[in-house]
Amino acid sequence: MPRVRVPATTANLGPGFDALGLALELYDYVSIEEAPELEITVQGEGENSIPRGPDNIAYRAAAAVYARVGRKVPGFKIAFENHIPVARGLGSSAAAVVAGLVGANALLGYPLPQEELVSLAARLEGHPDNVAPALLGGLVVVVLNGQQVYYQRLDPPPGLSLQVAIPHFTLSTRVSRGVLPAMVPVEDAVFNLSRTALLIAAAQAGDLELMGKAMEDRLHQPYRLRLIPGMPYVFEAALKAGALAVTLSGSGPAVIAFCRGSLPKVGKAMKEAFEEHGVKCEVKELKPAS
Ligand code: HSE
Repeated sequence: MPRVRVPATTANLGPGFDALGLALELYDYVSIEEAPELEITVQGEGENSIPRGPDNIAYRAAAAVYARVGRKVPGFKIAFENHIPVARGLGSSAAAVVAGLVGANALLGYPLPQEELVSLAARLEGHPDNVAPALLGGLVVVVLNGQQVYYQRLDPPPGLSLQVAIPHFTLSTRVSRGVLPAMVPVEDAVFNLSRTALLIAAAQAGDLELMGKAMEDRLHQPYRLRLIPGMPYVFEAALKAGALAVTLSGSGPAVIAFCRGSLPKVGKAMKEAFEEHGVKCEVKELKPAS
């Protein structure tokens, strides 16, 4: 029976909205096998919220693989052992999609190549920047072109360590995308695209300080401020405590600080700033996953 290990991911990395994602060393483990009926069990994160029926995203992903290769969709027995907090901006739903795809592909003897899994995953998830690093590991640049995806995986730069402040409240990606404007000023587009290009060049060169300078954004974070109490204070506290850069993790509400080496004082400062604004939170130190 395939048991798939899938990493958490942080998308956007500041300026690279819907285009950049990084895999993190925090994993869900999902076992999947064919069964007469659908049977889903969940241990750990999401125990009380993850759907157990045909709307379960891992099931839908597994079914999509069977349909894609022209096989009748069976029932599945799917068992989740989850460590990725749900609906916090750390790629929990992308992890479930990837587990379903990779598990089903393994059950069928690997008929689908990696590119097709990335493309199916992006369609199921709606945006590609969590699913691509969840499938490939590392730092991934990903572009959607209709039904196709183009991507490049990079090794994460050495020495990078993340302090992640994870609020106790959840925020759905749908709500967090709902506050974004339909149009943005061209200066803001240039602001982000120049920084995204610099961020990738700096990551390839292993220059963490330059990466930090590139991680500013005008396309999504300013609009999401109002969904996350205390967010600017948390950003300020992380930078003051020595982070190279700080961003929303994906669509939030988790906030992720990029640091050279282990810097627990950054996590502590973020937690205090959240809590001063009435938001309980936990902090994790994570490393990029290759
Ligand atoms: N790029 C997506 C967004 C990631 O920011 O809405 C969601 O985790």
